Amino acid sequence: MSDVLWFNGKWTTTEQPVLPVEDRGLQFGDAIYEVIKFLGGTPAFAREHYDRMERGLGALTIRHGWTWESFRELLRELMDRTSFDDGIIYVQVTRGIAQRKHDAEPEEPVKIVYSRSFKFPDEAKRRNGVAVITRPDLRWGRCDLKTTNLLPNTLGKKEAIAAGADEAIFIDDGFVTEGSISNFFAVEGEAVITHPANEKVLPGVVRDRTISVALRDRVRVDERPILENELFSLDEAFITSTTAGVMPVVSIDGRTVGNGTGGPITLRLQKEFLDLERSQTL
Ligand code: PDD
Repeated sequence: MSDVLWFNGKWTTTEQPVLPVEDRGLQFGDAIYEVIKFLGGTPAFAREHYDRMERGLGALTIRHGWTWESFRELLRELMDRTSFDDGIIYVQVTRGIAQRKHDAEPEEPVKIVYSRSFKFPDEAKRRNGVAVITRPDLRWGRCDLKTTNLLPNTLGKKEAIAAGADEAIFIDDGFVTEGSISNFFAVEGEAVITHPANEKVLPGVVRDRTISVALRDRVRVDERPILENELFSLDEAFITSTTAGVMPVVSIDGRTVGNGTGGPITLRLQKEFLDLERSQTL
């Protein structure tokens, strides 16, 4: 079951060595990426991912040359060439290739799009949730841009796994920002709370859709930073991401959240988000 890779207009597989040594993504992390989920050969929320990528590339002044229509055509062809039904599409646009110099400005970007099979959480996992640990947020000032500068994220995630947990939740100056690969939500009483979509967090596609689903259900949504001290008196908590969906958080730094399994508001939002995700077309 070979992966399908589109590299600057050519079709190949991820087993082929295609990336030049002086690609600025490789040497400087001078790149924007996206992770799009597909189910039954259909990408979910592709337009939302495209819009976020376009905004990020604009902020870094990287020209990409796609329109929404040409990008959608590319995703359709990728799906036609992909032999498995469920997985992720990884998209990366780097500033391009140039002799290593901080201020180099290559003529053309390097664009990569590939499909990879992925095992998404099953129903038991979605109900039973995940454990998280807290870690200091060591990241830079533009966490709203989905750049490939992910060292604090990969280290945080590794620390979580080493501690027997699934995710690291970052704390910045006494406030919760987000997870290493997810957004963080708390439930207090009837209200759902998450960090405002500013420079300190990624505006997650699933975060945004979950907020819409909650508002449609007349659930109160407060977009405000959550105090680290609040973490241990929450009724429910959950994380959101493309790969995990809406996932209950059942313990934080070894302390149980709520009754130690997915709470009622979390599981309701989880189900409604899944329904929405499964109804997507390209
Ligand atoms: N991670 N915050 C961070 C730091 C992330 O890396 C991600 C996504 C999210 C959630 O965003 P979305 O709902 O759009 O997936 C929040 C992807 C899945 C990854 O890097 O693999």
